[in-house]
Amino acid sequence: MATINSKLTIKKMSIKNRLVLAPITTNYGSQDGLVTNDILCFYKERSRDVGILIVEATSVQSSGRIVPGSLGLWNDSQIPGMTKLVKTIQQEGALAVVQLNHAGPRCPPDKNQKHGFSPSDVAFRPDVEPIEMDTQDIELLINDFSKAAIRAVKAGFDGIEIHGAHLYLLSQFLSPLTNKRKDRYGGDAKDRAILALEIVRKVRKELGREYPIFFRINAVEKIDGGQTLEDALVIGSLLADEGVDVFDVSLIAHGGFKVLEDNPKVTSKTLLAGSSALPKDQPSGANVAFTTAFKERIGLPVIAVGKFGIGKAAFKAVENEKIDMVAIGRQMICDPKTAQKMLAGNDKDIIACDECLKCFATIGKGAPMACKVNKNLPF
Ligand SMILES: Cc1cc2nc3c(=O)[nH]c(=O)nc-3n(C[C@H](O)[C@H](O)[C@H](O)COP(=O)(O)O)c2cc1C
Repeated sequence: MATINSKLTIKKMSIKNRLVLAPITTNYGSQDGLVTNDILCFYKERSRDVGILIVEATSVQSSGRIVPGSLGLWNDSQIPGMTKLVKTIQQEGALAVVQLNHAGPRCPPDKNQKHGFSPSDVAFRPDVEPIEMDTQDIELLINDFSKAAIRAVKAGFDGIEIHGAHLYLLSQFLSPLTNKRKDRYGGDAKDRAILALEIVRKVRKELGREYPIFFRINAVEKIDGGQTLEDALVIGSLLADEGVDVFDVSLIAHGGFKVLEDNPKVTSKTLLAGSSALPKDQPSGANVAFTTAFKERIGLPVIAVGKFGIGKAAFKAVENEKIDMVAIGRQMICDPKTAQKMLAGNDKDIIACDECLKCFATIGKGAPMACKVNKNLPF
């Protein structure tokens, strides 16, 4: 029986245990998408005890950043900093995976950029008008994902993760909430998957058969009309056929549409919002059943996420629920030694995250990530 301490091999990755640092946008990068000292500090502190560290959403185009200080792999000048980051992570003992992303119409506004790339016309920010992508935009995006993936390999990453979750651009193509297209990129779940499939196909072709490719996906979107588990499993099976190796199974835990009052300064009046974090009233491990469904239907290694850290949920997921790895997000922001304390059975020493969501709130305002409990960030 696998335990949280069991080793795992995925292609060339020899993973020392089942703990993963979930991708966390810190807004600690430079305005050019470069690695900074704060980035190195944050990840160094969190690399010692996890098997895999997934570096935050890293943009494949300068117009695709979640926050102004998102990391980037849209040009070659970003490779040396990333190489330093990879070495830092690996020296501390974790494998380094980088998450590749385009934030679509959720990027902060930028006067000089066509920043609102979107499948259809659903807005997420009052100040960013979504721009429906044409075929040329789509081709460019596919190429830019593959170029960023090649740069990730050059930087020495052990694997890449394509961000297809949380209603960023790829996820918007997958979701019936945001993809209303009438061309071949829209329609039923299989059609909505076409862009993601084309990206994975191109990336796989460029990186070869042996390079590990993870895909982060919403198992469900808990918003009326959102993606269902069955749709996610259909999409997941198609992605597996294209060569995805690992499913990092996340979700939209809550959200919805809101209508803004009339305001001449605001371009979009109806906004969609969705959160990847389980609300306070849901227990750790609440997402495990969705993740097990992926494992059972598709058979590939899976990562579960959702309030792991304190308590036995992570242990039970690996031992009893067919989960290969568990990712920890907020608890590792709050106490960087969470993984070490879990592995040593020192639960009572873990400094608990109080789920105040200050981490989300700070980056949402464009400020560097802060935490109410851990005043010492980036450490
Ligand atoms: C501040 C913050 C930034 C995040 N940034 C990312 C990101 O860049 N990419 C991603 O896929 N998920 C991101 N997430 C979601 C986490 O990876 C994780 O799925 C979520 O926090 C739930 O796990 P937890 O309950 O352990 O925090 C972020 C979460 C937080 C709190």
